[in-house]
Amino acid sequence: MESTLSFFLVILLPLVSTQSQYVLPDHYFINCGSNSDIDFTGKMFIGDDNRTTFSLSGGSTASNNNPASTTPEIYRTARVFTQKSWYELEADGNNTFVMVRLHFSPFFSNGVELSDSKFNVSVSGFSMSSNFNVGDSTVIKELIIPIRSERMFKIEFTPSNGSSHAFVNAIEAFTAPSELFRHGVVLPKISPAGKNGDMDNISSSYAFSPVYRINVGGQSIGVDRDTLRRNWTPDDEFIFQSEPAINKTFGGTVNYKEPFAARYDAPDDVYKTAKQLNDSSVNITWNFGVNKNARFLVRAHFCDIISLGLINTYDAFNFFIYSHYPEVVNPGDKVGAPQVPFYYDFVVDSDEKGFVNVSIGARPGTSQPVFLNGLEIMELLKSSGVVDFPNDGKSSKKVYVVVGCAVGGVVFVLLIGFFIGLKYRKSKLSVGKKTESNAMPSYGRSSYTSISNDFTISNPSPIPILNLNLRFQLADILKATNDFDENLVIGKGGFGKVYRGTFPEGKNVAVKRAEKGHGQGRPEFVTEITVLSKIRHKHLVALIGYCDEKSEMILVYEFMEKGTLQDHLYGTNKDIEKLSWDKRLEICISATRGLDYLHTGSDAGIIHRDVKSTNILLDENYIAKVADFGISRLDNLEETEMAIKGSFGYLDPEYISCMKLTQKSDVYSFGVVLLEVLCARLALDPTLPPDEVCLAEWAINQMKDGMVESIIDPYLVGKINPNSLSKFLGTVERCLKNTGDERPTMNDVFWDLEYALKLQQMVVDKEVYEDSTMNASMQLSMSMSMIDILSAKCTDGDSQVMNDTSYLSESQVFSQLKIDEAR
Ligand SMILES: *[C@@H]1O[C@H](CO)[C@@H](O)[C@H](O)[C@H]1NC(C)=O
Ligand SMILES: *[C@@H]1O[C@H](CO)[C@@H](O)[C@H](O)[C@H]1NC(C)=O
Ligand SMILES: *[C@@H]1O[C@H](CO)[C@@H](O)[C@H](O)[C@H]1NC(C)=O
Ligand SMILES: *[C@@H]1O[C@H](CO)[C@@H](O)[C@H](O)[C@H]1NC(C)=O
Ligand SMILES: *[C@@H]1O[C@H](CO)[C@@H](O)[C@H](O)[C@H]1NC(C)=O
Ligand SMILES: *[C@@H]1O[C@H](CO)[C@@H](O)[C@H](O)[C@H]1NC(C)=O
Ligand SMILES: *[C@@H]1O[C@H](CO)[C@@H](O)[C@H](O)[C@H]1NC(C)=O
Ligand SMILES: *[C@@H]1O[C@H](CO)[C@@H](O)[C@H](O)[C@H]1NC(C)=O
Ligand SMILES: *[C@@H]1O[C@H](CO)[C@@H](O)[C@H](O)[C@H]1NC(C)=O
Repeated sequence: MESTLSFFLVILLPLVSTQSQYVLPDHYFINCGSNSDIDFTGKMFIGDDNRTTFSLSGGSTASNNNPASTTPEIYRTARVFTQKSWYELEADGNNTFVMVRLHFSPFFSNGVELSDSKFNVSVSGFSMSSNFNVGDSTVIKELIIPIRSERMFKIEFTPSNGSSHAFVNAIEAFTAPSELFRHGVVLPKISPAGKNGDMDNISSSYAFSPVYRINVGGQSIGVDRDTLRRNWTPDDEFIFQSEPAINKTFGGTVNYKEPFAARYDAPDDVYKTAKQLNDSSVNITWNFGVNKNARFLVRAHFCDIISLGLINTYDAFNFFIYSHYPEVVNPGDKVGAPQVPFYYDFVVDSDEKGFVNVSIGARPGTSQPVFLNGLEIMELLKSSGVVDFPNDGKSSKKVYVVVGCAVGGVVFVLLIGFFIGLKYRKSKLSVGKKTESNAMPSYGRSSYTSISNDFTISNPSPIPILNLNLRFQLADILKATNDFDENLVIGKGGFGKVYRGTFPEGKNVAVKRAEKGHGQGRPEFVTEITVLSKIRHKHLVALIGYCDEKSEMILVYEFMEKGTLQDHLYGTNKDIEKLSWDKRLEICISATRGLDYLHTGSDAGIIHRDVKSTNILLDENYIAKVADFGISRLDNLEETEMAIKGSFGYLDPEYISCMKLTQKSDVYSFGVVLLEVLCARLALDPTLPPDEVCLAEWAINQMKDGMVESIIDPYLVGKINPNSLSKFLGTVERCLKNTGDERPTMNDVFWDLEYALKLQQMVVDKEVYEDSTMNASMQLSMSMSMIDILSAKCTDGDSQVMNDTSYLSESQVFSQLKIDEAR
């Protein structure tokens, strides 16, 4: 274990430290029309009359001789132009952005009233203002321009007519992070009527003119608290109906994580406050007045500061743009943890009245808090296309900067951090799966079924108050399943049938319906709702809801496109592509995350009790999720066990013989699943010769005899790196130890399998990492024929030992199996 850990630390450290660091450059901060350098809002503004690092094409200096005492020194001077003039500056790199901020604070000087000025300002050919008249106030204008191959850029001032002036008091123009607007991403394009396409190359085609920067649920944020010296303002004046909105403030720290939002995307003050929806029957809407017939980049900032501790990975809420476009926001799935900032970008056209409207609202049947932390609205400006460049007198060469025809390849930096490792693999997998178009998903015989033997419950527990948020109307279920259309049946089990259902918004679900009049399963039904409504995890199949109308017992789960793990190992469906060893390991690793969460993540500590390959389901990307909690048990629940529950072939010998049920019983069962994954055969196959019926027993005997090759799935022979196999077998062996104390925890198994995967992927290294002889690692002391199991000694004499003799005889095992087979 020690060596495993250090192995991972070595490869992880460099990845973690790639979190991008952006330091605000010290140029250009320019004090215009002055020869003195002034410290203003924390930056040294260099007098432009005394410049050495940039060029300026003229203009004269002006200073305010009668400034108000409150006028900052930097606003007491200006540079004044009577003809087209410019500042010429250089960005720190190419393929990035420059943030330009111009300060205008007019005064009267030498017979010129600057507040009467009327002029055009453009940067690099992007028009910042046309016929701009400041009036009497101080105005700060901002524009973010893309820098491609040409690093030089010009800020150009053109008086509107021969008798007018142009002026500027201060300039900030600094190189922004190159990932401020990501290259190579495709954004949804939204009009008031809904989504009408996608747009790419936003970051190289447009300049961005910020219209609103909103710190939702919080207060104004000044330039000193923002890496890029931006101002953020509260949202309250834009909110349409404030009753359902409550201000939320988080006192802790938020965790910026690659590849999601970085500190420069928005300061933590933005992410630490939010408006939360307090009434799921309404939406919160904000209306922002903008230019008509214009196009905007809308960036919505989110950070779940409301869910503390664990975050549920299924629930989501809606972020609407106007009324027809909902973005489904799922913090758990997107970033995997609360307090991790992230954002979404949209290209939005203003409506005919000159508004951009956004809302947040709950999705039916979910308990995810609904919130918004920040919002930016930036008008997209197209370049006029051509600028004079450079104009240094010597050459009149014209450089055409046609922004939008992307220069150079888009550099798409793939950040492969550990925390996104799973997602990364996910995308690899989905590429790999290609065409598996016969979309009829097949759930295994008993994918949604627990073999919870019918004689189990002697005293049905009273029905607790179920989670009402999850309750569905029978009418909706009937609609979703087309009145329980037999053609939609995707699985059958002791509990009843499982249907594929589709809700009106297009969401696919698996609907498990207890057979009518069966009279059984109520306790399992209640357990499943109780357990699943408490826990949410990426690697646990999510319960979306239930329905208990008219004596129906219906459970609604997220739909798992690829069915059960078993189907992909040795299913009868020949069309199913065989899984590679890498994929198998990845699936097992995902499953360990789910089980570990059950064991340790949820406060109660839950024992699944029915871990098997048909209870590990795969989503469309082959990400595994553990299913079926019908017989799971809260670890601290004082419950009088009257029977063994679980599936034979997977049952912990210690549990069978001593009625000692712990999390380690799940570990044992998982060990059997690992063997199934390696050997691609049933855990219990009565059609085989007697010494091969029980997979665990047979495999261990084979390993002891050094006959490892003979048990491996023929498809895998020669494809597994010996080190990986050795690590894997060692893990299996430890999972299958006779007593729970000797078995690893699920977390240990996770690390071992990760290690096995790494070994498999390190193709170059042919040397055996550890366990130089296979046999040495196979010091297997297991022997577990059924008889052994039944006669095994209980190691822990007094804890939870019950003398219960209601376990099944071998023949009952097989009859159970046959029932199972027949489903
Ligand atoms: C720049 O200004 C400083 C004082 O503000 C002065 O000492 C220095 O000589 C000036 N340099 C040039 C090149 O004009
Ligand atoms: C971008 O800058 C790098 C070095 O800073 C240079 O090698 C490269 O050619 C530049 N790319 C373009 C398209 O000019
Ligand atoms: C200022 O900009 C407007 C709009 O782009 C343009 O029509 C006008 O000709 C410009 N004025 C000058 C003096 O360049
Ligand atoms: C030029 O602009 C000034 C305002 O700056 C305005 O008062 C004047 O009438 C304009 N002249 C012409 C000829 O448009
Ligand atoms: C946006 O909100 C404003 C103000 O409530 C409303 O007048 C306008 O119709 C809305 N636009 C759309 C497209 O819903
Ligand atoms: C976007 O950029 C890519 C790569 O530079 C280019 O192949 C593609 O044609 C561009 N698309 C548009 C719409 O400009
Ligand atoms: C939220 O906080 C802001 C600023 O502190 C305050 O002005 C506003 O009234 C609050 N809004 C609500 C709905 O509590
Ligand atoms: C949230 O809504 C409930 C019920 O509508 C109300 O009692 C409560 O005061 C609201 N909370 C806040 C902070 O407004
Ligand atoms: C929230 O807004 C969307 C889009 O306008 C609308 O479809 C939905 O019905 C609204 N939800 C509630 C609860 O008002």
